Amino acid sequence: MKRRIFILTLCVVFVSSSAFGQKVLPLVPNPAKTEQKKGTFILSQETRLLVYDEGAFSKETAYLQQIMQTIFARGLSLGGDGSKNAVVIRHSSDSFPAGGYRLDINEKQILLSSSHPEGIFYAIQTLRQLLFSAGRQEKQGAESFLNIPCLSITDSPAFEWRGLMLDVSRHFFSIEYLKKQVDMLSYYKMNKLHLHLTDDQGWRIEIKKYPELTQQGAWRRFNRQDSACMEMGKANPDFLLDPRCIISQNGNLLYGGFYSQDELKELIQYASERHVEIVPEIDMPGHMMAAISIFPELSCTGLAGWGDTFSHPLCPCNEATFDFLENVLGEVAALFPSRFIHIGLDEVEKNTWEESEACKNLMKEKGFEKAEQLQTCFMNRIQGYLAMKGKEVIAWDEVLEDDINPGVNILFWRDWVGEVPRKAVQNGNRIIFAPSSPLYFSRRDSSLYPIYHLQSKFDEAPQDKQPLIRGAQACIWAEGAPSENAADYLIYPRLLALAEAVWTPGNARNWDLFKQRLAHQLRYLDTEQVKHPAQTYALIPLISVDQKGKNIRVKLENEQINPLIYYTTDGSIPTERSHRYNGREITISGSAEICAAIYDKGSIQPPLASRPVDYHKAIGKPVTYHIPWHKAYPAGRESALTDGLRGSHRHNDGFWQGFTTDIDVVIDMQAPVLIKSLSAMFMQLTGPGIYMPEYIEVSLSEDGVRFEKSFTACNDVPETERALTIRKFSGEINKKARYVKVFAKNKTGHFIFTDELVVY
Ligand code: ACM
Repeated sequence: MKRRIFILTLCVVFVSSSAFGQKVLPLVPNPAKTEQKKGTFILSQETRLLVYDEGAFSKETAYLQQIMQTIFARGLSLGGDGSKNAVVIRHSSDSFPAGGYRLDINEKQILLSSSHPEGIFYAIQTLRQLLFSAGRQEKQGAESFLNIPCLSITDSPAFEWRGLMLDVSRHFFSIEYLKKQVDMLSYYKMNKLHLHLTDDQGWRIEIKKYPELTQQGAWRRFNRQDSACMEMGKANPDFLLDPRCIISQNGNLLYGGFYSQDELKELIQYASERHVEIVPEIDMPGHMMAAISIFPELSCTGLAGWGDTFSHPLCPCNEATFDFLENVLGEVAALFPSRFIHIGLDEVEKNTWEESEACKNLMKEKGFEKAEQLQTCFMNRIQGYLAMKGKEVIAWDEVLEDDINPGVNILFWRDWVGEVPRKAVQNGNRIIFAPSSPLYFSRRDSSLYPIYHLQSKFDEAPQDKQPLIRGAQACIWAEGAPSENAADYLIYPRLLALAEAVWTPGNARNWDLFKQRLAHQLRYLDTEQVKHPAQTYALIPLISVDQKGKNIRVKLENEQINPLIYYTTDGSIPTERSHRYNGREITISGSAEICAAIYDKGSIQPPLASRPVDYHKAIGKPVTYHIPWHKAYPAGRESALTDGLRGSHRHNDGFWQGFTTDIDVVIDMQAPVLIKSLSAMFMQLTGPGIYMPEYIEVSLSEDGVRFEKSFTACNDVPETERALTIRKFSGEINKKARYVKVFAKNKTGHFIFTDELVVY
């Protein structure tokens, strides 16, 4: 009796200070349906485990016992009647969707039920997250117990493909690290680990038929990216190359590493117990330098080498290529139980094919008109070979540049080629989303907000074709991640936003509540020693244009919970005496420069968010392009220059429209109007090849045929200016006209970038 009173006292103290007191269960991803109930279940060493699984859940039961062992130093005792203080695993004869489960907790029982092992596994992961947040109450060491809130959860994933890709070629990661990722992925109900096993910079998988591939191809002299990392390592040791990956050979230091087939088998087994599928990628026919350096006869030139941007690919017109690939893929298919093998097909520079006699002959024989058809023919042959092994292929989205068969799974990465999702699904191909913005986590600049709101990307595919979307994955390209800490830092906590975006249905996703749940999960990451950045103070201005009300609305999103935000509308730096942002949209009907920041710890915190907004006369007016924009930077396409949406300091934010030609456009104001002025911002950022135009020239017309020059504005930013520069080109007009022509001279043949033609 005395003991019970003691426990209750602790419970009360705990509940009032726990996550549960806030009625926000600390779960990521948020379950599809949660019903919170009164009371708690007390999990202790006295709790019994009952399993009614008809033999189906033995692995999951063993996994649960391992978890209990970490809490209580031993598994739960089996048996009992389950009427009081029991964890019950029950096979359900109801049919649950793939990955679906129920978790019912009352004061007497924790019941995990599903019709399949995967569902029970995810029920255990939900329970684990509750246990972590329940904390641990101790009485004299032996008598540990945890309070779990009573609830009922009915849950299943929104998407079947919930993944992470790790590039282990550019930098190598140990098997132990991959196991740690499997643990983390499964904790957040992610189920695919895609390994980019081969690339120009290293071959990482043992192929028994070709031992040279790893004896030589897994090792390289330090390259430019290694040097850049070592330089950064002077300030941050996480950028130093992992010393386990450095060997000395004939007096040279070499970087590398590879996985033996036995090691991969062990990883695959470990992952399968956690319902994570390891999906291998052998990138072909490009990105093959590590192999071609050893077998140069596999390229059309008989040499390993570099083209303008990418390495010479395998020759698709040479039988030796297919012999080699079938030998390699035969071993890969036998090793990995995954239904999928990713065969790359990205960034293939095809000049060596166009110049090769063998390819010219093959093209003639097959009646091909372009080199892309050679690539499709190559892909079809590999796909056919793998189909005989019971495998489906995945390819990067470049394959859609030709007509392809619907059996290819498309991995969509080039977010600047906006038509990819629509084109893929219209053709009947299944698609996995990894748009580089925001899912290339190797880029440091993508924030949690667009990852969490990935649905807007899925919506690019027509509604009736949505079932062809398999899901999404993040990608880590490891050039800038030479250590496991550096990779963790890129993956977390962004993976958690993705986990919720692909698991939780729309009606159970809520950004503000996610931020609160994430705060609990950051504690878990710390406990597991997962390196991650602190939550940022960066604000994300979300801008919408209300053409009816003739104003622009600005919402300021961020990762902090209930932050204090101040802003100005004249571009000046905000202070605590500026406008206080109340969480609702700011409405601007004329012209303003919003400058906003979060106030915390007694001062305004960097970075400042600054964005010009103008509700000007040309908003919503049609624009005719005499020369199209460059397909890599379409921004809002034909409405980009009059949609009221202005670019930020990031050239690839989706608001800057790019041209490698002159710009030659005409705005139709749809009636003669007084035009007082026109201005346009241009960006210079020499890294990605963006320069100022030499000048812009503005002309007016009544009829859209005869134009009269109004003004010319010349550039004064030198091409040698390497720092990001945004320059306004503007002029007074003060004339009535219906048509406004804007011509911007591209002097360099590189990109010119503008975001909006602002007409007053
Ligand atoms: C890729 O980023 N080249 C798939």
